[in-house]
Amino acid sequence: MKKEVELNKAKWLVEPGCVVMVTSGTMERPNVMTFSWQTPVNSADPCLILLAISHVRYSYELIKQNHELVINVPGQELLEQAHRVGQGTGRGRNRFKESGLTPVAAQLVQPPLIKECAAHLECRVVQIFEMQTHDLLICEVVRAAADEDLFDGRWIPEKFHTLHYLGGNKYGLMNRTVVAQQAEQT
Ligand SMILES: Cc1cc2nc3c(=O)[nH]c(=O)nc-3n(C[C@H](O)[C@H](O)[C@H](O)COP(=O)(O)O)c2cc1C
Repeated sequence: MKKEVELNKAKWLVEPGCVVMVTSGTMERPNVMTFSWQTPVNSADPCLILLAISHVRYSYELIKQNHELVINVPGQELLEQAHRVGQGTGRGRNRFKESGLTPVAAQLVQPPLIKECAAHLECRVVQIFEMQTHDLLICEVVRAAADEDLFDGRWIPEKFHTLHYLGGNKYGLMNRTVVAQQAEQT
């Protein structure tokens, strides 16, 4: 038996990919915020990722200044930090210091990488779709790097547990690979 789900709760049925921490600004004046509304929209040439960002975020102000950002992928060990930089705002504060995260210079964009994260996607914002409360940022990935022990073309969930937002202060973990018997179609 299935129960009805209120429409304002329906998105939790398909809450997308892993939680990420997005850095914006510059090495001198960086900010970081948590995102769960993210999805790839083109796999290659170029690789494009869509982020939905609220109009009121301080990060959005910084992103509009240089149209650059870095998508950083935290694992289970960064749960507290990821949740923390998803509350309130980084305006007038140094969230890196407060949450013990280390900014490291990126190669192709101005915002820093987060050293403690397992992967980084350096991005340029190539298009913005204005919406009611959250604008849609189309981000072109210009460089990506990941911990070679944890990612071999796909995440190895037995070694690295991405966070998946369940609402409130609850998160799920990806911790096991299952393999479909049918061969992959090419
Ligand atoms: C797990 C999680 C996911 C979030 N996802 C989004 C998101 O996709 N888009 C968004 O605009 N805010 C999202 N937020 C809220 C922002 O991360 C939060 O408001 C942040 O403090 C904004 O910081 P800023 O004002 O310094 O930019 C999320 C928060 C959490 C805890």
